Amino acid sequence: MIRLSAALALALAIAACSPNTEAVSTAPAGSTPGEGMGGATLADFKTDTVMKDLMAHVVDFNAFAVWHNQGWVIDETGVHELFPIDEAGWVAAESAAFTLAEVSNTLLLPNRPPDDDRRWVDWANQLYTAAKKAQATALAKDKQAFFDAGGEIYDACVACHNHYVQGDDPGKPAKLPPLPNRTPPPQNQ
Ligand code: HEC
Repeated sequence: MIRLSAALALALAIAACSPNTEAVSTAPAGSTPGEGMGGATLADFKTDTVMKDLMAHVVDFNAFAVWHNQGWVIDETGVHELFPIDEAGWVAAESAAFTLAEVSNTLLLPNRPPDDDRRWVDWANQLYTAAKKAQATALAKDKQAFFDAGGEIYDACVACHNHYVQGDDPGKPAKLPPLPNRTPPPQNQ
């Protein structure tokens, strides 16, 4: 049996010397100070959840709610689709993709990026773009495009893990990324 299933800079320029309670504005130049942040201050970001838990219980959970709803299983009885078969299923898949997109922003909350490397931000944004594509294509019930977006989500996970988890830097300990295998579709698919 062959199983084919797709497994800012949050422009919070945190001034190094700002006290924790100071309002940070993300408002465009020329607008009222504080606009866009409401009354929120840096102290209002609740980031006590550690990255490992955020990944395992929030990012991974929603990614699999996308991946488990796409692809094909080919066996001796033919080709079986893994895509949702009713409206509720598509709504669930779309919502998981939407959740994943929004969760990508939480990777950028103050104290979440492990270093000042801009690539962390780019990979989080890559996840956002891919997840929004999955959301839109699930809404359209476009199976192939939804499947492809699932692959793009996977690429974003792997890109960040290759650097931050697996460790492509000399001197960084190598840790295997705990991700599912994704078998590419055969040529004639
Ligand atoms: C911007 C970087 C980044 C992106 C994007 C990212 N991850 Fe992670 N992920 C990490 C880091 C860093 C860790 C290691 C956390 C630790 O062990 O402290 C991790 C760890 C994990 C873990 C292991 C958790 C555990 O219990 O040890 C899982 C599972 C995971 N990520 C799934 C995913 C999936 C699925 C995606 C894509 C949908 C994804 N990640 C996208 C950075 C990222």
